[in-house]
Amino acid sequence: MNIQGRRVLIGITGGIAAYKVCDLVSTLAKLGANVRVLLTRGAEAFITPLTLATLSRQTAFTDADFWQPLPRPLHIELGEWAELLVIAPLTANTLAKLAHGLADNLLTNTVLASTCPILLAPAMNTDMWEQPVVQQNHQRLQTQLRYHWADPEAGILACDRVGTGRMATPTKILAQIQSLLYSQGQRDLANKHLLISAASTREHFDPVRFIGNPATGKMGLALAQAALHRGANVTLVHGPISWEPPQGITAIAITSAAQMRQVMVSQFPTVDWVIMAAAVADVKPRHYSPEKLPKRSLPSTLELELVPDILGELSINKQPHQRLVGFAAQTGEIIPPALAKLQQKHLDAIAANPIDQPDSGFGSEQNQAVFLDRQGRQTTIPLVSKLHLAHALCDFVQTIPDAVGASPALWGN
Ligand code: CTP
Repeated sequence: MNIQGRRVLIGITGGIAAYKVCDLVSTLAKLGANVRVLLTRGAEAFITPLTLATLSRQTAFTDADFWQPLPRPLHIELGEWAELLVIAPLTANTLAKLAHGLADNLLTNTVLASTCPILLAPAMNTDMWEQPVVQQNHQRLQTQLRYHWADPEAGILACDRVGTGRMATPTKILAQIQSLLYSQGQRDLANKHLLISAASTREHFDPVRFIGNPATGKMGLALAQAALHRGANVTLVHGPISWEPPQGITAIAITSAAQMRQVMVSQFPTVDWVIMAAAVADVKPRHYSPEKLPKRSLPSTLELELVPDILGELSINKQPHQRLVGFAAQTGEIIPPALAKLQQKHLDAIAANPIDQPDSGFGSEQNQAVFLDRQGRQTTIPLVSKLHLAHALCDFVQTIPDAVGASPALWGN
């Protein structure tokens, strides 16, 4: 995601997770963002303005600056400057101030003097987070659309407790920052339920051996994040993965294509869009041994059979408001085979992506694609982060006209 020159204001409040935000500021600056930082007095007890000024390559502001006789009030300057304000970590105290519109320091005054989207990443002890009054403040702010949330996670806390309250990881906060800069905080998928599939399927012929492929699910993860950050309700059906599904989505783990098919078919009637980013194994061994086969008993050839075509099956019961989107991971020419799949599987759109180009395809952080729809539109997305590609695909799918009355030109059957 290109965030070069984008204006991100980071507000840090007094929690131990403040040290992790140094890393976030450093990453944003390295990505070319224009980052400014302001610290509350509590934050200054944990980290210094010097650290943040050095990492952000800009002056880091504190409450001491708030009271300086500047030509223009600093909170107005910063509030007008920011495209996005991130408060991480957010303490119970600052959460309460925001929930009640209080403004008694540089940060809370800047919040009220700004109109940009705000990303909040609370972090506190579990008992503090679970206090009814803290939860009420959390809920109260959820009704205000400018606030977006990187909710705390469960884990071991600095107080040696295990529970919810740990700040979302800088990696997750960074992805959300990138999404919010892309969408400018719009929740344009708020009324949509997306069913996304990700990663590979494994077709076992005994408990330890299988037919599979190298898909890691990163494209599906990026799609789930992009949709979630734009307000969608997301169900992610995924094969084996080495990452944690994002908080706030429903994740359903499967192993085989048959299991993926069963979940997709049962979820399909209640969703608006399906995006099949999974690399489904096309074939499975005809025979399965529930016991591990000794090496000497391994067959010299494997009898194979085709697994069901999940997208093809979903298309049979598709409602006019639903959108069915596939991926065609190809080598060599990408567009003709992708168009054939669009037609054969009766899809609304397909993302044709080359897997034989440097830096794109299985396991990479980036991807490139040509989006095709059955009206004949083509949109080419050059090599970008998978999160960027995911947002671009959401944009493309949103502009597909309703199936009723749409030209079936590309559907020969
Ligand atoms: N797909 C599916 N069910 C399968 C195989 C694939 O729903 N059994 C979906 C994939 O998730 C992808 C799209 O269909 O969104 C295209 O998958 P791809 O593997 O490229 O195409 P195939 O139909 O398997 O054709 P081929 O392997 O011959 O290229």
